[in-house]
Amino acid sequence: MTKYKQGLAFRYVQGTRYHRDRPLSDDLGSIPSPEQFKSYPDAERVILPDPDFSRPADLWQCLSQRRSKRKTTQEPLSLEELARLMWSAQGVTARSGMYLLRTAPSAGALYPFETYLYVDKVEELPQGIYHFNVPDFALERMQNGNFSREFVSASIGQPFVGRAAVVIIWTAMMLRCMTKYRDRAMRYIPMDLGHVCQNVQLAATAMGFGSCPIGAFYDDDFNELLGVDGEEETVLYLVTVGKL
Ligand SMILES: Cc1cc2nc3c(=O)[nH]c(=O)nc-3n(C[C@H](O)[C@H](O)[C@H](O)COP(=O)(O)O)c2cc1C
Repeated sequence: MTKYKQGLAFRYVQGTRYHRDRPLSDDLGSIPSPEQFKSYPDAERVILPDPDFSRPADLWQCLSQRRSKRKTTQEPLSLEELARLMWSAQGVTARSGMYLLRTAPSAGALYPFETYLYVDKVEELPQGIYHFNVPDFALERMQNGNFSREFVSASIGQPFVGRAAVVIIWTAMMLRCMTKYRDRAMRYIPMDLGHVCQNVQLAATAMGFGSCPIGAFYDDDFNELLGVDGEEETVLYLVTVGKL
């Protein structure tokens, strides 16, 4: 067999196929069900303001103008502009039984990820690392301070990360998806996050901001910065946003 076909990428896709004549089998045993949402009850909270949708944006224009833009300025975002970005990423738009349905689709409505934020330049918000609390539409402050240098270094030295007004970071919550989809979960989590990130890029475009997704980073560095274990919860994707 060709050597590259024995690699993880091929083996994963082949090993997680659905077949008509047999179920996907595994030796994973029972998988514990983690909580639907993560929260940091001891953290200081900032309730985000209601997003202002009074100025409509043209979807077709946003789609044609969306670009990954890395040259952003030092101008801060307002708290309301940040609220609009976070709502675009994970705003709750409907309830269905126990599910809080959001602005982006998710396989099985499981939303197997958490959203964090590095705030560098936002009016009224101290610099620091925050967790986004979905049901309360609030930020929970995890760490105070300027982490620009650490963020650039963890992003393999990509300098634009240090110029962004905010960096949104998403972790994969592996068990939240694996309880239903077992080994197939790692097909769905990145798909879910692709939808979420596109929402953020389109919202940034609608507001005239620059944004850039980031998939190249040192996993352990970001997991450590967020204080997550890197196994059951691990950083998967980031996006920078700033004014142009
Ligand atoms: C999954 C993913 C990971 C990416 N990672 C990076 C990255 O680490 N650094 C970067 O500068 N751009 C990154 N990008 C942005 C791409 O380079 C960009 O989307 C591509 O060049 C197409 O340009 P456009 O987004 O302006 O259409 C990433 C994009 C995606 C979708």
